[in-house]
Amino acid sequence: QHPIYFARHGQSMYNLEDRLGGDPVLTQKGELDALSLKELVKSLKAEEVAQGDCGDSAMQLWTSQLKRAIQTAHPSSEEGIKVLRWSSLNEIHAGVCENLTYKEVEDQYPLISRFRSENKYTFRYPQGESYQDLVMRLEPVIMELENANRVVVVVAHQAVLRGLLAYFGSTSAESCVNVEVPHRTVWRCTYNSKGIATIDVLKLG
Ligand code: F6P
Repeated sequence: QHPIYFARHGQSMYNLEDRLGGDPVLTQKGELDALSLKELVKSLKAEEVAQGDCGDSAMQLWTSQLKRAIQTAHPSSEEGIKVLRWSSLNEIHAGVCENLTYKEVEDQYPLISRFRSENKYTFRYPQGESYQDLVMRLEPVIMELENANRVVVVVAHQAVLRGLLAYFGSTSAESCVNVEVPHRTVWRCTYNSKGIATIDVLKLG
């Protein structure tokens, strides 16, 4: 089984403002984050070429369909790597709270803030999703990742990565809803000869 790499998109305009969801573009800093990811991808590509693992089993980049993830993968794709865009990798949908800051949510929907803090995993945003919904929507992509006969670099979002890392790290999704998922960080999932996965964390230079 090939390793799987998980990265968060680069810094977005909304990250600067502490704003939820939407479809913002990257900041200049975020574009630099994307270039740093490209350096890692380049070294993975060089390893692949050295091992003769090209052609049908060539490495791929999997992103969501949101601009910040697509833009983050773009420089890496210039290394001749195919990009697949999955709607199931889109960030958790915050329903009526999409495009609001956390502070605006608290002011406009105090009950949402309260109920969410009481049970973040099962709380479903009105007209949106809960983490539980998100984890279910990730199932098909998880199956594809497990069966991928190639190295895959997944570029996704905070809540999505919490769900994926919980699964591949064999921890409960319920316990991961507050785990830090910083930018400029890559989680590498490798398998031993018994098929047991280990996750280690790489910081982008
Ligand atoms: O703040 C960035 C973001 O990706 C939002 O788009 C999303 O709603 C949020 O993180 C998910 O994190 P949390 O569940 O901790 O609010």
